[in-house]
Amino acid sequence: MPNAITHLKLEETDSTNRYVLEHFPSLPNLTLVTADKQTAGRGRLGRTWHSPAEVNFYGSFLLKTTLLTPHTASRVGALAALDALRELAPKLDFWLKWPNDIHVGQAKLAGILCENKTCAKNCFEGIVIGIGVNINLAKKELEKIDRPATSLLAETGKRFSVPEFVKLIRAKFELLYFQAISGESDKIFDRWKQENKLIGGEVTVHTSMGEILTGKIIDFGREGELKLDVGNRNVILNDGEISIKNFHLA
Ligand code: BTN
Repeated sequence: MPNAITHLKLEETDSTNRYVLEHFPSLPNLTLVTADKQTAGRGRLGRTWHSPAEVNFYGSFLLKTTLLTPHTASRVGALAALDALRELAPKLDFWLKWPNDIHVGQAKLAGILCENKTCAKNCFEGIVIGIGVNINLAKKELEKIDRPATSLLAETGKRFSVPEFVKLIRAKFELLYFQAISGESDKIFDRWKQENKLIGGEVTVHTSMGEILTGKIIDFGREGELKLDVGNRNVILNDGEISIKNFHLA
């Protein structure tokens, strides 16, 4: 079903995720809210997302359906961003870093923040898939980010069209969404796992509980979990951040 997505464009908001959650009752399933600028962009693990005006993609997709799980929904978002980036900049080697960051080499280019909308009694009402992609973020702006970050501009020396990226990510998201709701979530999981580079690698993980664990990645599970062999035991993590400082990327 082409053009199934309703696109709402904002010049400025604090956070497109927060906007969608606030306006949840009036927005239809498959809404995309984008903003040229965010004044309080949200990242994972309580971080902020650097969101200056008119250089990047800041967007949130709203899904109001129980036909796909929140895990599948977040994979649809990550793969849609990855597919759109590959079409826009085919020479760059993009990869997914658990849980859902998009990297080029050692640096992060895009991030996904999924937030659930629940009713007063905690029932699931929908999911917001927030995606931030550094497109034309210049080196001096990237230096303001407290961990290795990159953009299409920094990687290629060329500027890219943000509206063109919006067109691409809409189309890719739609395709993957309809694939997921027609019973192909397993295929989406298999692809998501394949795009994750680090299985078998020795890594350090900063857990969301503040622990630092070092071990070998055994697998990624269907519930989005990371399975880590820390020597004397296996640990299952649902959120956190893998540090790849000393990891050799093939
Ligand atoms: C991460 O920490 O990797 C997730 C970053 C997600 C940023 C995007 S930008 C659009 C949407 N609105 C937000 O406030 N955050 C997400």
